[in-house]
Amino acid sequence: MKLEDLQAINAFLPEALHMCRATAVSGEVASYIPELSKKPKEALGICIIDRSNGCVTAGDVDLPFTLQSISKVFTLILALMDNGEEAVFAKVGKEPTGDDFNSMLKLELVEPGIPFNPLINAGAIVISSLIAGNSPQEKADRILQFFRKISHNHAIHVDMDVYASESASAHRNRSLAYFLKDNGVLTDEVDVEEVLDVYFRHCSIEVTCKDIARMALLLACDGTDPVTGENIIPRRYVQIAKTFMITCGMYNASGEFAIGVGLPAKSGVSGGILTLLPGRYGIAVVGPALNSKGNSVAGVHLLETLSAKFNWSMF
Ligand code: DON
Repeated sequence: MKLEDLQAINAFLPEALHMCRATAVSGEVASYIPELSKKPKEALGICIIDRSNGCVTAGDVDLPFTLQSISKVFTLILALMDNGEEAVFAKVGKEPTGDDFNSMLKLELVEPGIPFNPLINAGAIVISSLIAGNSPQEKADRILQFFRKISHNHAIHVDMDVYASESASAHRNRSLAYFLKDNGVLTDEVDVEEVLDVYFRHCSIEVTCKDIARMALLLACDGTDPVTGENIIPRRYVQIAKTFMITCGMYNASGEFAIGVGLPAKSGVSGGILTLLPGRYGIAVVGPALNSKGNSVAGVHLLETLSAKFNWSMF
């Protein structure tokens, strides 16, 4: 694989951004969480960080956005660190669904009714219930502290407007969670509203591309901070997370993304995409206009363009 250095990528970014920004017109900014709809449709930004802390950025890279489903990769990792593999995979499966990220279809159709994977909403809600802590506040705080550590940004916080908007409009997620309670995946001692509150909070953590490019770099370096040498996440859990990102990270467009870009990635309905080049780069893009699968239109185009130009595909 021919790998270019950051300077070559930097030189190409203005042209790539110009080409890809125009594609945003075909998408729509998410509005089922009303607060998300306030973001500019045509925005597009990118940040790439290498293992010696070299960083290139372009476009609307300072646009703040909430993690949404990108958070699910890291709550999965925290749940694995808190409980181990066996306990986590007793509650969530390892397979893609081919359905929308908030679908309840397979929960009823396929025994034993556990969510197919931890990156769909049902799976991530179950994962929220597995985070260690004596109260929902403590669980949400442990998640926030973990995200602060791995983003190297101790100022990141929950966007309370998005949190309130998500909580008030989450009829679908509530129905998923109550179904999971009814079928015993969320057990008797679990309070459904408390679990949902932990979930809404981690989805509503506000970041910029630089924050999540750092989180991605940690995954690219198998859980060991490349600058300090500190092992923060066990390598096995990074391996599990990256595998889910390949198979389910872009929802039911994961196959298309694997062919077009060829890197582990996770998208969110705020228009963020976190991806990585193993051993090399943490990469983050933001572009709020989404396609019908819930992924950033211009963001996916930009990653396809860069992957083709610099031969990034792992496959
Ligand atoms: O629960 C939700 O619907 C949102 N908090 C997260 C969904 C999401 O980001 C799916 N991504 N493509």
